[in-house]
Amino acid sequence: MAQPVTLFHVSDIHFGVEDREAHRWFADAVARERPDAVVCTGDITQRATKRQYAQANEWLAGLGVPLTVEPGNHDMPYYNLVERFRTPFKRFDALAKAVNAELAFADLAIVPLRTTVRAQRRFPWSDGVVKKKALAATLAELERMADDGRYKIVACHHPLMAGPPGSPHNPTIGGDEAFAALARAGADVVLSGHVHDAFDLTFEVDGRPLRMVGAGTLSTRLRASRPSYNVLRYDRAAGLEVEHRTLLDG
Ligand SMILES: [Fe+2]
Repeated sequence: MAQPVTLFHVSDIHFGVEDREAHRWFADAVARERPDAVVCTGDITQRATKRQYAQANEWLAGLGVPLTVEPGNHDMPYYNLVERFRTPFKRFDALAKAVNAELAFADLAIVPLRTTVRAQRRFPWSDGVVKKKALAATLAELERMADDGRYKIVACHHPLMAGPPGSPHNPTIGGDEAFAALARAGADVVLSGHVHDAFDLTFEVDGRPLRMVGAGTLSTRLRASRPSYNVLRYDRAAGLEVEHRTLLDG
């Protein structure tokens, strides 16, 4: 029997420069409303230190609901360049192993896409790159579930498109191509973070709509908006409803 699913989509929690009030506000809502899962789209730490990862581990585990995490550009070692090049995701993978749950819903699936790389041919290294191998892994997973009728959510750190049609420059290398390929492979929505402001846009690829939803930040690194997160409610009949929740000024 089909069951509605509620997800809290949070991003850029940035332990090290976290907004403690915003973190409490989010954790209180999780405790009160008990979403089916939390999806965190990266930048879990500020500098990927052991201390920041330990804080993140404790906080995420303490939320007490199933969750899944993606790595952001801030989640690879920043001070230790040897580790950054040799094993960039070692610290993140240890966190993911400790906190990630196996999420299995009858009506929706969450598929990761890695957009974070240890280095690239431009500076700074903060913007996204979709490598062929990363995209192929996501497409293969979408292919495996092509005919199962589930609503397909792709979770990554960097927005794949720059903004509304006509936006001049897409900072995510390979983003446009990845977005089109995901649409053709049957994805329904792409969740991301990175820009620290929430958005909800729909694009069409070959006549098929693909939605792109971004979560804001729970850190002190604010851009245009106050700390925020998204509540996603999916129901087979009604589709996906997205609510942006913003922490109002004290
Ligand atoms: Fe961030």
